[in-house]
Amino acid sequence: MERLHFANKKPVESESQIQQDLIFKNLEIVCEITGPEYLWCMSVTKAIENIEASSVDQIASHLNQLVADSYGLLGQLHLAHWNVEGTDFLPLHQMFQDQYEELFVAIDDIAERVRALGKYAEGGLQKLATMSKVNEGPSASAASAKDFVSSVLLAHEVVIEQAVAGRKIAAEAGDAESEDLLIGRVRIHQKAVWFLNSYLK
Ligand SMILES: [Fe+2]
Repeated sequence: MERLHFANKKPVESESQIQQDLIFKNLEIVCEITGPEYLWCMSVTKAIENIEASSVDQIASHLNQLVADSYGLLGQLHLAHWNVEGTDFLPLHQMFQDQYEELFVAIDDIAERVRALGKYAEGGLQKLATMSKVNEGPSASAASAKDFVSSVLLAHEVVIEQAVAGRKIAAEAGDAESEDLLIGRVRIHQKAVWFLNSYLK
């Protein structure tokens, strides 16, 4: 549940009056008057309120894992972008960049979906590194272009697996919005796998 804090400058007349004032926000509001100037309101959108609490926990936990795995992939993409060499340098350097730029924006969307579900988003490099299931790629100096492409490809596969697991749970729980987000993520990572596989042939 999202906790909203309102500073109330007028004397509080009644809880129902407060609910009337906030109805335009289309939120389910539960207010507790805690003093003459402040009150705490708990709110959650009605759509999320209809999802089982245990399912919301599960979906949020899958989304947080997806953030961690996506950060793992982001690290591999940067490593490859910075260090790839050879005759294919320019297209690979650019492709890795296109992928990490898209991913950076997507990670924000995934984490913010966790918050929209009323849960907290995991963050911090150390925490995410501990959680991530993505393996570290080749060493920066000794890798061929194919090594970098392969390691990035494997990282995409880890992310796809996580997104598919989350998508199924969201679908079963009737959380169409999380499901939609995850369908989009799977589609984008599958396209990246196609690009990378085509290079390796
Ligand atoms: Fe760059």
